[in-house]
Amino acid sequence: MKKISEIISTFFAYLRRPDLYPELRRKIWKNIFNRSSALRGKEEAEKWCASLAVSEKDFIENVLQMPFVPFENIFPHEFASALQAQAKAPVKMGGAGSLSVIYYINEFTNAQNTIETGVAYGWSSFAALASLVDRNGILYSSDMPYILQNHSSDFVGCVIPEKYRKNWRLFRFADKESLPKIFAEQSVFDVMHYDSDKSYDGRIWAYNMLFDKVKKGGVFMSDDVGDNAAFKHFCEAGSLKPHILEFDGKYAGLILKD
Ligand SMILES: C[S@@+](CC[C@H](N)C(=O)[O-])C[C@H]1O[C@@H](n2cnc3c(N)ncnc32)[C@H](O)[C@@H]1O
Repeated sequence: MKKISEIISTFFAYLRRPDLYPELRRKIWKNIFNRSSALRGKEEAEKWCASLAVSEKDFIENVLQMPFVPFENIFPHEFASALQAQAKAPVKMGGAGSLSVIYYINEFTNAQNTIETGVAYGWSSFAALASLVDRNGILYSSDMPYILQNHSSDFVGCVIPEKYRKNWRLFRFADKESLPKIFAEQSVFDVMHYDSDKSYDGRIWAYNMLFDKVKKGGVFMSDDVGDNAAFKHFCEAGSLKPHILEFDGKYAGLILKD
C-alpha cells in the first residue's frame, strides 16, 4: 500500500507535467475503480506458466535452433561498462529480463525494426540494439518518465553503449500516447518486447494493438506473464501457441508469428 504522502507527491508531480495528464486521468480511474487489474488471475497464470516453462538456453537452442552463448559473454566489454553506468545512476529503476533471449530473437528474425515498451536503465534496449546495429536497424522504445525522481530522465537508457544510440528512438510518454507516435514513423516490426504497464487491462490493450504490428515470421515477447492471466487469455482468445521461459524466478512469454 502506498503511503498518503507518496500519493500526494505523485499527484503534484503529474500536475507539473501536462504531457502526462492523460496518464494521470487513467491512473486516478484505475486506483478508484480497477484496483484488482494488477493481479487478476495470478494463480491461474502461474500454474499455466509452470506447466509450460523451459529455460532460456532450451528456447534458444531448441526453438530458435541457434547455438546459445550468454549475452554477457558475447559482449563482455560493453556489458562491463553497462554495469558501471547502472552503478553510477543515482535513481532506482525497473530491472532487466532475459538479455540473451532478447538478443537472439533479434538475430533469429534478422530484425530491421524492433519495438519495446519499458526501458528503465535500458538493459533490454542494449540487448536488442546489439543485434540491430549490425543491420543498421532501428529500435523504437516507449517509456514513461519516473516523475517522482529528479533527473531520472537523464538516466533512462543509461546502460546503452554510446555507439548504439544512433539506432535508437525513445518516446517519453505513457504507451497510450507513445505507441501512436511510434506507429506514425514505423508500423511493421520484426520483434516486439512488452515490459511496461503490467496490469491485466494495460496488457490486453497493448497486446491486441502490438500483435497486429508484428510481421509474419516475427517474434512477440512479453515479460512477467505470471503476474496475471492477461497473456494466457490473449493466447487462448487467438488460439496462439506460446513458448514460456523461466528466468530469475519469473516467466516471459513468446509467440513466433507464422
Ligand atoms: C521493468 S521496467 C523495464 C525494464 C527494461 N525493459 C529492461 O529490461 O531493462 C518497466 C518500465 O516501464 C515503464 N512503464 C510503466 N508503465 C508504463 C506505461 N503505461 N507507459 C510507458 N512506460 C511505462 C516504467 O517507467 C519502467 O521504466
